Amino acid sequence: MARLGLLRFLPSQPMLLLVLFVAADAAGKGDGGLRFRREDGTFKVLQVADMHYADGLSTPCKDVLPAQRPGCSDLNTTAFLYRVIRAENPDLVVFTGDNIFASDSTDAAKSMDAAIAPAIAMKLPWAAVLGNHDQEGTLSREGVMRHLVGMKNTLARFNPQGVEIDGYGNYNLEVAGVEGTSLANKSVLNLYFLDSGDYSTVPSIGGFGWIKASQLAWFKQTSSSLQTNYTSEQPRQKEPAPGLAYFHIPLPEFKNVTASNFTGVKKQESIGSAWINSGFFNTMVEAGDVKAAFVGHDHLIDFCGKLTGIQLCYGGGFGYHAYGMAGWSRRARVVSVQLQKAASGEWQGVKSINTWKRLDDQHLTTIDSENLWNISSNSGGTQLCKSMALLFLASVTSIYFQNLQLM
Ligand SMILES: *[C@@H]1O[C@H](CO)[C@@H](O)[C@H](O)[C@H]1NC(C)=O
Ligand SMILES: *[C@@H]1O[C@H](CO)[C@@H](O)[C@H](O)[C@H]1NC(C)=O
Ligand SMILES: *[C@@H]1O[C@H](CO)[C@@H](O)[C@H](O)[C@H]1NC(C)=O
Ligand SMILES: *[C@@H]1O[C@H](CO)[C@@H](O)[C@H](O)[C@H]1NC(C)=O
Ligand SMILES: *[C@@H]1O[C@H](CO)[C@@H](O)[C@H](O)[C@H]1NC(C)=O
Ligand SMILES: *[C@@H]1O[C@H](CO)[C@@H](O)[C@H](O)[C@H]1NC(C)=O
Repeated sequence: MARLGLLRFLPSQPMLLLVLFVAADAAGKGDGGLRFRREDGTFKVLQVADMHYADGLSTPCKDVLPAQRPGCSDLNTTAFLYRVIRAENPDLVVFTGDNIFASDSTDAAKSMDAAIAPAIAMKLPWAAVLGNHDQEGTLSREGVMRHLVGMKNTLARFNPQGVEIDGYGNYNLEVAGVEGTSLANKSVLNLYFLDSGDYSTVPSIGGFGWIKASQLAWFKQTSSSLQTNYTSEQPRQKEPAPGLAYFHIPLPEFKNVTASNFTGVKKQESIGSAWINSGFFNTMVEAGDVKAAFVGHDHLIDFCGKLTGIQLCYGGGFGYHAYGMAGWSRRARVVSVQLQKAASGEWQGVKSINTWKRLDDQHLTTIDSENLWNISSNSGGTQLCKSMALLFLASVTSIYFQNLQLM
């Protein structure tokens, strides 16, 4: 099938060749080469929220059953990460902050190295954002991000170049279509990573930090540029590519998700958003491409719920040195993005986004499997629409020439 697909897209005209070269230049570069798999047209992201890693073996587990306490340490967090990576075989691991619980760590850099180690050992590309605890040790917030972007196999970036922006670790990653297909050099899935801050620095406002205006501006600009490129560069796509956003602190809108609109647990603790709403949710709604946003921060909450067209999702607490609830398993969220297949058998753009969670129990139980997003039924027929338009053009032209001849 793949070979047929390739042949079909070999350029037969110099003009088409030129267009393909321009497209090849525009996408799929400098972002770690993330790409959908040819075999099954999927791209799978493992979200690891709140590892709270400290000093390893000497750091005890919190909130486990009395019988589980002896011999339980950060190394259990490490063991869980290895297990879930082996079970899911993800294409990317995303650490959504509070990766380390730095106030209990003697060396923040060492703690971070140990926390991330399984992803590196398993040779997986990985990305990370900061939470509110990562900088509470021997490294500043800037220092932690500088350390992260220097680690092996990381796709995390410090910040966009040439842009004045708040926070550390605001960046985006592009996931290209299947190799050898017409979308091989286009980003068919966009991933956004933002620093949601730590604590409010405004004396009259307490609580946690928030995503600042400079970050909203960067996101808007990036999303708009990605959408323009996807829909205007050859081969032109009818709808923008879907996006997923990852950051640590839930937006105030996570509180709006109602009982009829969520899967998972919401009421085991209160939602720890910032006290003020800086508008990132509305900014995402306006941009239109982000279909789901993923956070950590509240370890006892693990829902996904849809609000105004965007799925708001928690990862669920992962780490054993993070607070939790004895008897309520540590967990991780998996997102699996599926491409659409054309009648010719060639993989196209994204068809659906699905998610589930894995529990760190004996069987790594899968729970809360659900569909987050489907392509709308009227946007799947790009090829058909194109051929119909061509047919229409051809008949209009022939009628026109027939009329000319008559005159
Ligand atoms: C969109 O394409 C232009 C021209 O190829 C490129 O410079 C720009 O970086 C692309 N935008 C994004 C967000 O990748
Ligand atoms: C932690 O790891 C130890 C050593 O492998 C194991 O015996 C113990 O059951 C684990 N505890 C939990 C709560 O998973
Ligand atoms: C994608 O880029 C590669 C390398 O630049 C090029 O060989 C290939 O023809 C391009 N494919 C498409 C469909 O544009
Ligand atoms: C969320 O709830 C608040 C308070 O009830 C309300 O003001 C706001 O409009 C809601 N936002 C959305 C997107 O539903
Ligand atoms: C909740 O879900 C129902 C049914 O799926 C839908 O009609 C409603 O608009 C949703 N509410 C919100 C706030 O998204
Ligand atoms: C997406 O499509 C699947 C299968 O066709 C369906 O079960 C699911 O409910 C749809 N999801 C949404 C969010 O529309």
